[in-house]
Amino acid sequence: MTADAINQVLEAQHPALFRSLSALGRRTFYPQGIPYQAGQARGTTYNSTIGIYTDGHGGSVPLPSMAGAVNLPPDEMDRAFLYSPVQGIEVVRQAWRQWQRREVDEVLPSTVPVATIGLAHGLSLMADLFTDEGTVVAVPGPFWGNYRQTFGLRRGAELRSAPSHVNGVYDPQVVEKALGELPAGEPAVAILNFPSNPGGYSPTVKERQELVASLLRIAEQRPLIVVCDDAYQGFVFVEGVPRRSLFWDLIGQHPQLVPVKIDGATKEFSFFGGRVGFVTFGLQMEPEAASALEDKLKCLLRSTIGSPVALGQMILYQALKDGKAQDEVAMIHRQAEERFQVIQPALRALDPSLLRPLPFNAGFFALLEIPAELGIDADAVRRHLIAQYDTGVISVGPRFLRLAICSVAADALVELVRRVEQGVRDLAASP
Ligand SMILES: Cc1ncc(COP(=O)(O)O)c(C=O)c1O
Repeated sequence: MTADAINQVLEAQHPALFRSLSALGRRTFYPQGIPYQAGQARGTTYNSTIGIYTDGHGGSVPLPSMAGAVNLPPDEMDRAFLYSPVQGIEVVRQAWRQWQRREVDEVLPSTVPVATIGLAHGLSLMADLFTDEGTVVAVPGPFWGNYRQTFGLRRGAELRSAPSHVNGVYDPQVVEKALGELPAGEPAVAILNFPSNPGGYSPTVKERQELVASLLRIAEQRPLIVVCDDAYQGFVFVEGVPRRSLFWDLIGQHPQLVPVKIDGATKEFSFFGGRVGFVTFGLQMEPEAASALEDKLKCLLRSTIGSPVALGQMILYQALKDGKAQDEVAMIHRQAEERFQVIQPALRALDPSLLRPLPFNAGFFALLEIPAELGIDADAVRRHLIAQYDTGVISVGPRFLRLAICSVAADALVELVRRVEQGVRDLAASP
């Protein structure tokens, strides 16, 4: 279908989504080129469509030294060594969909996830699809710095932020505050990341309800694309704090609110090198509209990365296909929770005149605020910690230090916190 034809479908069936498309998003359609024609010819006996070297019967021809490194059944081996379809390998997409929906009510609609090269790529697709020069993107702060590159630098979007926590308490109106003044009707994007990086926070039930109410107030005024960055999905350590993605709470709530889920195997399945992410829309879509939207994503995918990584998808599939994932992921959660339990008392014992931990109940990180009155720059502390204390942390803006609990052994965490505190004390004492 041409861009005009698929735009008409989206405009008629999903006007808020259509109105939110960027100029690039409007132009995109999936051309009837090689992958399209090869897809139509799949299963033919004399298939001479695509530029893949095969055994002449559709099977892969891997180098023996490489094949020896991957222990997969023959048909899965083929899938791993041949090109993935542009939208992802169908069985993997379906298996990921089941994984996403394992505790989700059947009535909530969601599209079949489209595979990406990790979550950063999924976010970048959203930036391409929904932002232009000057499009307002609300992001609670502090936030993962790469959003600046993905949405701001590459697309020229205007990132607006407000603090997630005020006086140590989560602010459910943070997106409204970040958006600020904007002419009624002008589409906007919001990025919500729970558990958060660098914050290590996931909202409580009540905070979530208020957050949803706040997003609905925005959607009364304008089309709102809510990008749920679920990188750290499931890593929640405090009883009563919901684990499941906010994405599901937003579906069907308002015709002008379009929820998008960006997730993947990177952190959720501890598969950092696999580069498997997914983009999923929380919309009730007729097949024609679902395929129109998928065509747009496929065009963006094909024109940037060609197709997603087949090997990564097939390795992920090993965990998904016969239900091993649940227990194996739970094991990682238990390890992460142990580290959380070990570091909590150390964080509570910090001298508040030197470092103040922000509320931390989830995710991979603890975020520590350096009190403004100390007048110390976070990056100076970071450099001092490397030089004097053999310790690496990340500085976030001028006054925050991020500790990656995920990458330090449980028995080293107390010492880590002690060194960081000592580093701040040194600089606070120096003239
Ligand atoms: C909040 C957040 N989103 C997305 C990503 C990117 O994930 P990926 O490595 O799969 O691209 C990260 C990685 O650190 C992250 O912290």
